[in-house]
Amino acid sequence: MVMRPYAYCLFLCYALSMFFDGYELRDITSPNELELLEEVQKASWGYDDREVTPGSLMVASVHSGGIVVAAFPKNSGTPVGFAFGFPAVRGGRLLHHSHLLAIAPAHRGTGLARELKLLQRAKALKAGFDLMTWTFDPLISRNARLNLGKLGAKAVSYHADWYAIRGGIYAGLPADRFMVEWDLRRESAEHPVTRPKGELALEAVNGNVNLGVNPSKLELNGVSVLIEVPRDIEVLKRDNLDVARAWRLAHREVFPTYFARGYVATDLASMNDRTFYVLEKP
Ligand SMILES: CC(C)(COP(=O)(O)OP(=O)(O)OC[C@H]1O[C@@H](n2cnc3c(N)ncnc32)[C@H](O)[C@@H]1OP(=O)(O)O)[C@@H](O)C(=O)NCCC(=O)NCCS
Repeated sequence: MVMRPYAYCLFLCYALSMFFDGYELRDITSPNELELLEEVQKASWGYDDREVTPGSLMVASVHSGGIVVAAFPKNSGTPVGFAFGFPAVRGGRLLHHSHLLAIAPAHRGTGLARELKLLQRAKALKAGFDLMTWTFDPLISRNARLNLGKLGAKAVSYHADWYAIRGGIYAGLPADRFMVEWDLRRESAEHPVTRPKGELALEAVNGNVNLGVNPSKLELNGVSVLIEVPRDIEVLKRDNLDVARAWRLAHREVFPTYFARGYVATDLASMNDRTFYVLEKP
């Protein structure tokens, strides 16, 4: 029997990914353990209590088709990262919508985030889903690298004011989000950061994101279109909130225009400390 790539991944995730580099990765369903994820959220997003998704909601969800996978340092009962999602219906199609992914700051840069997503994917496939969606802030290029370059998901639409969240790491700017789609039947191939190739639809003034953003070019038709994003929006917000807001407003115009014309964001490319979304037509 020939094993399909996603079935092979499913097998591997179950067989191997339960332990990763000193961490145990497993699903959790007990109320006491789910409550511990509230602290991971506060550490990861800098949220106050009212912005935290309560453990009790995750209890209800895991008893209704939801999935929570968490990472524990070896011999510790305290989770340091997790992913949480639930069944959803969009346009008549059943899918798994992932609502939260977080790694506590002290455990970042370890590859845990990708491993948790792969385990979540394996559990979703086993439950019968072949599509996972989630949202992320288009201005956070770290998340773009993870979601597009390391997981192989695609950003397919732009939503201004998706949330009313105003606190934690999102303070200061409206909470716009990309909607991401992850085809669970395709192998999730991680690739190194690419160099930007394509026509520039949006870029920084004089190549410096701190100086602001040039007017968008909305009529390009190239195979690849590039849209610049500040390398570190948190630093830019701290140093010059008006310029950070200008980037948000520019993205609000340029991304929906290209998405409406059939492009999707497939990768994040970098060169000399400048960072660009790569948009292509599937
Ligand atoms: C998002 C999050 C889970 C990622 O965890 P992480 O441990 O930082 O993830 P990883 O280190 O495995 O992957 C991040 C990648 O982005 C890269 N990266 C980091 N900062 C970057 C930046 N400013 N621009 C571009 N890439 C960046 C890293 O180098 C790494 O890629 P690499 O493995 O090729 O080197 C974590 O940062 C987090 O909890 N953030 C707060 C919660 C959040 O935003 N959740 C939403 C997730 S969609």
